[in-house]
Amino acid sequence: MLPWFSKWNKENPTDIYGPAVIIGAALGGVFVAALLVSWGQPYATESMQTGPRGTGMSVTEYKASVTAPDPSIADYYSEEPYIPEGGEELAKDIYENVQVLGDLTEDNFNRLMTAMTQWVSPEQGCAYCHGDGDLETYGSDDLYTKVVSRRMIQMTQNINENWDGHVNANAEVGVNCYTCHRGQNVPSDIWFKITPVSDNFEGWSSNQNRATSISQFTSLPSDALEKYLLDYEVIGVHSLESRVAENPSDPDVKTWQDTERTYSLMNYVSNSLGVNCVFCHNSRAFYDAGQVTPQWGTEMLGISMVQEMNNDYLVPLRDTYPPERLGPIHADAPKAACKTCHKGYQQPMQGLNVIADWPELATTEAPVYE
Ligand code: HEC
Ligand code: HEC
Ligand code: HEC
Ligand code: HEC
Repeated sequence: MLPWFSKWNKENPTDIYGPAVIIGAALGGVFVAALLVSWGQPYATESMQTGPRGTGMSVTEYKASVTAPDPSIADYYSEEPYIPEGGEELAKDIYENVQVLGDLTEDNFNRLMTAMTQWVSPEQGCAYCHGDGDLETYGSDDLYTKVVSRRMIQMTQNINENWDGHVNANAEVGVNCYTCHRGQNVPSDIWFKITPVSDNFEGWSSNQNRATSISQFTSLPSDALEKYLLDYEVIGVHSLESRVAENPSDPDVKTWQDTERTYSLMNYVSNSLGVNCVFCHNSRAFYDAGQVTPQWGTEMLGISMVQEMNNDYLVPLRDTYPPERLGPIHADAPKAACKTCHKGYQQPMQGLNVIADWPELATTEAPVYE
């Protein structure tokens, strides 16, 4: 094509691969840099400082995931209350079998029934708890879903009233059915007892060394939620004393396994909230409650709240559920924990206030409308 070039090329045999690769790489670098400058760094991170400067206490996340909203917020249904004028007939006077919501006016009672339907059974509608009969039959307690819901209403009222220090820790956020259910009959991230998960040998425990969802897919123990969020077992494994003198067969002595179980729980907690350990701890002194962030205190309340939810509300419902709702191994009742509400976010529904419109769910007493 270019005879002068072919001739010159033949007479001057030069290896151009080396220079070509260098020039190509340099131009490629310039091209990528130009892309980053014009479109932005796709893996940019943002970090939230959680402790004093210079201690490395910060939670780092990709900007893309920080700015993407929790997808279930878009489907959230809410409606402002009807402020009663006084003198209205109440649900307990109108209906046959209202045991918890008796102090609501008819408008507010129906408003709440509509919302519960949107939050828990949008596909099945009222029939999920009341069956296919007409409105006259709605007083019947034949369906387990209705009996469970009545207890769920009481549990939600109790959480908002008595665990206000957790669910309104930073601002009014609160909890309603949607916090856990998100439009599903059975909430995501519930849990059952699953241990033993492996064979027990001399010196080896049968509750670990198998990757399970409760061990956060590590070899750590799979009974952390059971011990700490149901059985009231006390955390507190870190000691500044020598362990040499202690006898591990003494039940008060913390063993390596308690340490691993604590770590299993802490991994669960971190994953439930989408944070790392220094969101709550100063990692130079995990044991020291004097060097923690305010979120550590919020978690302490959260642990007691979850223990109460499980023991006083969810476990006693065991015989009310049909067998297919019970645990696969021990046929135990479904239980809740941090992730059932948080779903991987620092605050459920990213801090959306879900209680302002629902005074009926904010207290175990008669609702107060303002
Ligand atoms: C998730 C379960 C659930 C859904 C869905 C539901 N309800 Fe209810 N409903 C209940 C519970 C629980 C009670 C009893 C409340 C109490 O004891 O205080 C009740 C009671 C009632 C009563 C009073 C019946 C009586 O005579 O005692 C009426 C009326 C009612 N609901 C209407 C509706 C309507 C209309 C819908 C659909 C828009 C609906 N409910 C959807 C759980 C549900
Ligand atoms: C703290 C989390 C949480 C909140 C808040 C909550 N629930 Fe539940 N709910 C659960 C758990 C856990 C179960 C057991 C799951 C199962 O049935 O397998 C459950 C089960 C149910 C069921 C039985 C569903 C089925 O198909 O077995 C109904 C109905 C229900 N809840 C209604 C409600 C209503 C109504 C509210 C609000 C007043 C509410 N829940 C609030 C956690 C919650
Ligand atoms: C949301 C806050 C929070 C996060 C995140 C968190 N922790 Fe904790 N951690 C706590 C609280 C609260 C306690 C104390 C519980 C108690 O004493 O009942 C604790 C206790 C501990 C203990 C036991 C201390 C002792 O006194 O024996 C260790 C060890 C620990 N955490 C390690 C971790 C590690 C490792 C991570 C990250 C994987 C982590 N934590 C993430 C709140 C948190
Ligand atoms: C019943 C639902 C529910 C459960 C279960 C729950 N939380 Fe929360 N949690 C909330 C709500 C709602 C907030 C938001 C409070 C606010 O920002 O005002 C919150 C806030 C927090 C915060 C403070 C976050 C911040 O930005 O300051 C921490 C830490 C926390 N929860 C840890 C936990 C841990 C650990 C568990 C399990 C032991 C748990 N939570 C269980 C509902 C729940």
